[in-house]
Amino acid sequence: MPRIKDPSLSNEGKLKTEWAASEMQTLIKIKERFEKEKPLQGKNIACCMHVTSETANLMLTLKAAGAKIALAASNPLTTQDNVAAYLVSEGIDVYAIKGDDVSNYENNLKATLEIRPHMVMDDGGDLTVMIHKDAELLSNVIGGAEETTTGVIRLENMAKDGKLKYPVVAVNDSLTKQMFDNRYGTGQSTIDGILRATNILIAGKNFVVGGYGWCGKGVSLRAKGLGASVIVTEVDPVKALEAVMEGFRVMPMNEAAKVGDIFVTVTGGKHIINTNHMKLMKDKAILANSGHFDIEIDVEGLRKIASSSRDVRTHLKEYIVDRKKIYLLAEGRLVNSSAAEGHPAAVMDMSFADQALACEYILNNELSAGVHRLPESVDRDVAAAKLESMGIRIDKLSETQTDYANSWSE
Ligand code: ADE
Repeated sequence: MPRIKDPSLSNEGKLKTEWAASEMQTLIKIKERFEKEKPLQGKNIACCMHVTSETANLMLTLKAAGAKIALAASNPLTTQDNVAAYLVSEGIDVYAIKGDDVSNYENNLKATLEIRPHMVMDDGGDLTVMIHKDAELLSNVIGGAEETTTGVIRLENMAKDGKLKYPVVAVNDSLTKQMFDNRYGTGQSTIDGILRATNILIAGKNFVVGGYGWCGKGVSLRAKGLGASVIVTEVDPVKALEAVMEGFRVMPMNEAAKVGDIFVTVTGGKHIINTNHMKLMKDKAILANSGHFDIEIDVEGLRKIASSSRDVRTHLKEYIVDRKKIYLLAEGRLVNSSAAEGHPAAVMDMSFADQALACEYILNNELSAGVHRLPESVDRDVAAAKLESMGIRIDKLSETQTDYANSWSE
């Protein structure tokens, strides 16, 4: 039995999903092919993803391909209850209610495994880790796909320790995913979340971005576009240098902490902002996280060092630390999905095209246990389909140019 908030919300969810689909023509084209070819016929897929209208279009694509699907929320705060209701009305087993606590979150994940999955589609790695604890279920799994940077890091650590027992496609690592979803998706939706939670002016603020991967690049770019003075903190010298050459100030978090007005963490790591940093901060500093898990800001530590706290607006909590105010957005969880609505459909289009094609790729190739990437040809096909859906045409190499590109003597 699915577990959702209210089945009567289904029509709202349908409209929302159709609206997202209008920006997801790459995925819809794959859905149309899947409807005819049924490449996933008879396969059960357990999914742990954000339950959004964009994900709904992916689920309907997998269903069109012949798969049976169970879906749990990868983050209880991002669940759209109306979309969950719509998916259930479409025959997809959804286990998600917005605001679920940790115990419900885990039970939701467990419930998806009741379909005895042949494939696992994950966002963050929790479902993958869970299924590895059940040898009987594990033996049924052909492969999996992982959506996000944090999940891929976990998978690589599992593989390094010899613990990853089936092939997983790191969808996150496809160029058509990370260059667009991580950069422009996180860039826009993070700013959107901060604005919805605070309605502050970004122009003229010192905007500190922890991490300069694709997500950090996107957040920095958009903050700069709104007139902020951007400061980047990094541990990787190449990325740090890239940020310098892009014109951003780069410094350790200890120094950034003293001057920042707004802080955003996007590293995939832990305690990027710790209580020592918090004590150095200016009055009214605003802290937000757009990394997958709520461990990038030491929220527990903040609660301990604060003399008091109060909710000021939705998703905006004020803490008093040494008589100064520190504002935490969305409890340190993904601000872009909690306070806003996650990435726009137009970028999820490519990420979820990659996800759908990853399922097909796993079935059509005998992959070894471990982490795999989709071939470059998939990136080219997905990008070409996206361009076509946007009405943008590009050049083709002429015969002379192709000959030159393939020669060495000229
Ligand atoms: N991850 C980030 N944004 C998302 C969205 N809109 N839907 C599903 N997963 C997401």
